[in-house]
Amino acid sequence: MPFFTILTLFPEALEPYLGASIVGSARERGLARIELVDFRDFARDRHRTVDDRPFGGGPGMVLRPEPIVECVEWLERRHGEFRKIMLCPTGRTFTQDTAESLASEERILLLCGRYEGFDQRIAELFDWETISLGEFVLSGGEIGALAVTEAVVRLLDGALGNERSALEDSFGTARAPDEAGEAPLCDHPHYTRPRSYRGHAVPEVLLGGDHAAIARWRRERARERDAHRREDREE
Ligand SMILES: C[S@@+](CC[C@H](N)C(=O)[O-])C[C@H]1O[C@@H](n2cnc3c(N)ncnc32)[C@H](O)[C@@H]1O
Repeated sequence: MPFFTILTLFPEALEPYLGASIVGSARERGLARIELVDFRDFARDRHRTVDDRPFGGGPGMVLRPEPIVECVEWLERRHGEFRKIMLCPTGRTFTQDTAESLASEERILLLCGRYEGFDQRIAELFDWETISLGEFVLSGGEIGALAVTEAVVRLLDGALGNERSALEDSFGTARAPDEAGEAPLCDHPHYTRPRSYRGHAVPEVLLGGDHAAIARWRRERARERDAHRREDREE
């Protein structure tokens, strides 16, 4: 069972989300363990200070090294080594491949920044991977930590609670290859009842029960989505 430890100044903001839906149910059923640690508990002064003004001047506050470094050391003494991830806007963009590689880890530590970010010594003192949600700036790493946790938990055996494998979703490594041996990256469009809605009908092929034709149609639509994605990226 993977053990996620999320270091954050706002555990109370994360707990409701992590208690709901697929992640909450996976936790209840013992498929994943998630612990939230407030690194303010490792501050040394009576005001529980975790940040300070930047050397060299400039706006904002910087996360001091001691509470975070000592918190990570305490956790590793207690549990053993973690795969350590620092949420960071300039890190490596999070992908399904990374989620799949994390799904086989025993211990994952996710460090959420705030303010102007981390004192650089925190990065230097441990072996971190940095993960970004994309080229934009949030006020903290919490949404990134939730995104990583959910993307990994839904890949765990039994997490989706039905016969479906998350590996077949878009970008998954178990997507069915076509005749040329290539799997489209994107999932195909999905339809359910009603058969017609506001003048938009469900494609006839999905109603006919011809499984080979349905599979062909789905592969073609998935390939179209792949092509649109490529065009969007090239623009
Ligand atoms: C306001 S940001 C710091 C931004 C930093 N001064 C910069 O310009 O790169 C505070 C924290 O939010 C988190 N964060 C912000 N944007 C993020 C993103 N796109 N992906 C992952 N984490 C992000 C990080 O943990 C970061 O330390």
